[in-house]
Amino acid sequence: MGKTYGSGHSAVHALRGIDLEIHKGEVVMIVGPSGCGKTTLLFVIGGLLSPTAGQITVFGQDVAAMDEGALQTYRQHTVGFVFQGFNLVPTLTVLKNVIVPLLAGRGVGPAIDRGRMLLTEAELSGRDESFPAQLSGGEKHRVAIARGMANDPPLLLCDEPTARWMVRPGTPPWSG
Ligand SMILES: Nc1ncnc2c1ncn2[C@@H]1O[C@H](COP(=O)(O)OP(=O)(O)OP(=O)(O)O)[C@@H](O)[C@H]1O
Ligand SMILES: [Mg+2]
Repeated sequence: MGKTYGSGHSAVHALRGIDLEIHKGEVVMIVGPSGCGKTTLLFVIGGLLSPTAGQITVFGQDVAAMDEGALQTYRQHTVGFVFQGFNLVPTLTVLKNVIVPLLAGRGVGPAIDRGRMLLTEAELSGRDESFPAQLSGGEKHRVAIARGMANDPPLLLCDEPTARWMVRPGTPPWSG
């Protein structure tokens, strides 16, 4: 599988000849220097970018062949994404940020209940009504992880998950 940004002289071959098989239940760490293509790979697996060569199959689904509707469903139910820069919505409270992925699928009440539960797990239960700008870097990261887990996705993609914060020493955030 490959991903090239741009074309001609400005082409950047971010991924070339990636051949990777991951089995259900595995925790896989992708390690490499800055700019080597880690984020690009996670975006392709997460259906946020299309590969420019080859195929990507997740739980038997051909992600590159999905139309926009199928991609939306895939992003909502199959993958959770924790972004390198967190991508929290600055105008929404912590709780609202966490429940954004839930609102399409359930009523507001159950979404809030689940959001509060996730924030308790992330040891942020007192910060529901704070805004992202009022949090530390690690706290924002925990909110982003809680949001990524909101729909209890079978696949959680975390970009730089250990850069700032871990749930408990030795326990990666996706293990629970
Ligand atoms: N939208 C884009 N347009 C052009 N080139 C891009 C784009 N996004 C990323 N790149 C380039 O693709 C390569 C891979 O970038 P990527 O963000 O995947 O790396 P990374 O391994 O996640 O880096 P880091 O550890 O710094 O986060 C880099 O050379 C980067 O400059
Ligand atoms: Mg990156």
